[in-house]
Amino acid sequence: MFTLPSPISKITSQLFAGTGLEVFVKRDELIHPIVSGNKWRKLKYFFTGDLPQHIVSFGGAYSNHIHALSFVAANHQIPLSLYIRGEQTWLDRPERLSSTIADCLHNKAQLHFVDRASYRRKDDADFKKELLQAYPEQTLLIPEGGCDQVALTGVAEILSEQQNDFDYILCPVGSATTLAGLIKASDNKQTIVGIAALKQADYLRQRVMELVGPSIKDKNWQLLTEFHAGGFGKVPEQILQLVVDVYQQHGIILDPIYTSKMWLGFNQLITQNYFRAGSKVLLLHTGGLQGWRGLLQQNKVTSDYLSKIGLPQAN
Ligand SMILES: Cc1ncc(COP(=O)(O)O)c(C=O)c1O
Repeated sequence: MFTLPSPISKITSQLFAGTGLEVFVKRDELIHPIVSGNKWRKLKYFFTGDLPQHIVSFGGAYSNHIHALSFVAANHQIPLSLYIRGEQTWLDRPERLSSTIADCLHNKAQLHFVDRASYRRKDDADFKKELLQAYPEQTLLIPEGGCDQVALTGVAEILSEQQNDFDYILCPVGSATTLAGLIKASDNKQTIVGIAALKQADYLRQRVMELVGPSIKDKNWQLLTEFHAGGFGKVPEQILQLVVDVYQQHGIILDPIYTSKMWLGFNQLITQNYFRAGSKVLLLHTGGLQGWRGLLQQNKVTSDYLSKIGLPQAN
């Protein structure tokens, strides 16, 4: 049921024809229809070995993390409590429920809607201690986006499951866990380039350093923060057009929040001659295609548009 190792597609384009660059896409979006992309990579080792009696985690109403986690927890029959940034009113007005939340309910997750100020405390030690007191002793707390050392082991497998002779590896960045895992697993001839999906992402450099630890001093990496196209969750015309172009040229469906911004960054880096001539570049497709449903629900895209990018049944 899981497609592993995920395939790697070589792509060609007018954009880099004649540069000597070889460009590949690691197709982690094909790993599984629900637990796709970096969700599988980050969650895998939370579900290996002794399993917890209960899991607590966090996310927004359209979060790929809670969507995948609720599916995996249900499959292992582990009760899951999710703290969702947002309003309780959603539960009272089911027609406004995001499809992501509806799937979490279907997977029997217990939902707790918290206001934004309380949600911001989710990583405070006091808050976590208080929270865990309400649950059985064997409760596992998985931070938002799976941002934890455990996740790095799964992310490292992205590079080890096939010959890894890439000079540059690009990935999108939200919590920076995937970027940190790739950096940790990289060798000193490689450069890992994270492309932030959110505005004001500079603070994530510190997080990357903490997650990777002392070996970071031997690594080549960059976090680029100028390709967010207006900010997290913003999907301007430029991004919508780029997703159509990528689908038409390469048959690859990008997600609206993360991989489309990475591709935007990649295109711009090409025009800036960022990559050494003759290098091998790997773009990591981190999945997230369920995110299109949220945009459809919010009328930010039409079903016609989704058909154009290869997702005719996205709703
Ligand atoms: C589809 C997708 N791609 C990329 C990311 C960013 O990954 P990370 O949070 O590890 O930086 C996320 C969020 O976790 C995601 O859902």
